[in-house]
Amino acid sequence: MPGKKVCIVGSGNWGSAIAKIIGHNVKASNRFDPMVNMWVYEEVIDGKKLTEIINTEHENVKYLQGHKLPKNVVAVPDITEAVKGAAVLVFVIPHQFIRKLCDQMKPHIAEGAIGISLIKGVDEGPEGLTLISDIIREKLQIEVSVLMGANIANEVADEKFCETTIGARNRANGQIFKELMQTPNFRITVVPESDTVELCGALKNIVAVGAGFCDGLDCGDNTKAAVIRLGLMEMVAFAKIFCKGQVSSTTFLESCGVADLITTCYGGRNRKVAEAFARTSKSIAQLEEEMLNGQKLQGPQTSVEVYRILKKRDMVNKFPLFTAVYQICFEGKQVKEFITCLQNHPEHM
Ligand SMILES: NC(=O)c1ccc[n+]([C@@H]2O[C@H](COP(=O)([O-])OP(=O)(O)OC[C@H]3O[C@@H](n4cnc5c(N)ncnc54)[C@H](O)[C@@H]3O)[C@@H](O)[C@H]2O)c1
Repeated sequence: MPGKKVCIVGSGNWGSAIAKIIGHNVKASNRFDPMVNMWVYEEVIDGKKLTEIINTEHENVKYLQGHKLPKNVVAVPDITEAVKGAAVLVFVIPHQFIRKLCDQMKPHIAEGAIGISLIKGVDEGPEGLTLISDIIREKLQIEVSVLMGANIANEVADEKFCETTIGARNRANGQIFKELMQTPNFRITVVPESDTVELCGALKNIVAVGAGFCDGLDCGDNTKAAVIRLGLMEMVAFAKIFCKGQVSSTTFLESCGVADLITTCYGGRNRKVAEAFARTSKSIAQLEEEMLNGQKLQGPQTSVEVYRILKKRDMVNKFPLFTAVYQICFEGKQVKEFITCLQNHPEHM
């Protein structure tokens, strides 16, 4: 039987790091086709197309400089070409682009294809929360798992040891994805609570913005630890209210929970830009433009979606940290008021 064809939908910082792993792993397994397509949002860099650079120099010079991609990873600029015949789809793009891309892909999805989302973010739906995996399931009618964890892309690409979590409602599919992505330095645990895993990945980016505010305000380590803990409590509370399925506290102890929260609140772009926001008078959009070289921030955007969901259910007061991050980023609330917003937290009442 021919191996399953894999398509990576996305090629940013994380997309390229995971392409490096997948490219190596498919060569070592007879479950997968040895050639991998990677859809690239085309850009021109120094007069040359990014896809051409990747296919000749085997490096994503814009989003993962200094790392060679395996030669069996082929950059494809046309999404309909990229997904043709793919049995396994790995979604790894900034969440704001997912709906449009799914619409473009839909007529070309192979029967029986399965997907995994590495995308961190949420969307607002008619009944409240819509997960990114829900959008993919609904639009493409395929089974979707998720992968989230303490995985800053450059460190994964450097092959530094870390862990990650796959949330898979379908156990067999979870094992396929584990075979596709596990390496000696990228250790994977598969758990069934896919929605909880996914929400952890999205919500921790809001907390990271709060941690960046703390750094920018020179609050010190105790305050930052309190912000991280209160953020975690809001993540748990939000998941318990808005997830349709079961939400177990133990899932928050996996890499997707506490570990990802810690790494994002100390490293990562959301923290970095939020610190700069607190130290300058520049807007989030301006800092994203100046500091990230085309990479996208997820935390501020996720705070908008979460705020709208909370507002609809009249629950803003129960989530003071999520709410303060949104109001500071977008409604002109002073960043120095961030800590005051936490003094009457429901956790202390
Ligand atoms: N970078 C990390 O360390 C990391 C780790 C874990 C998860 N993630 C998540 O992975 C997802 C992808 O992030 P990333 O780091 O690979 O990307 P990135 O932020 O590094 O890069 C942005 C990507 O978006 C593409 N893009 C720009 N405009 C577009 C458009 N109109 N339509 C479609 N694509 C467009 C760019 O070409 C680029 O590939 C995000 O949800 C992120 O939260 C990132």
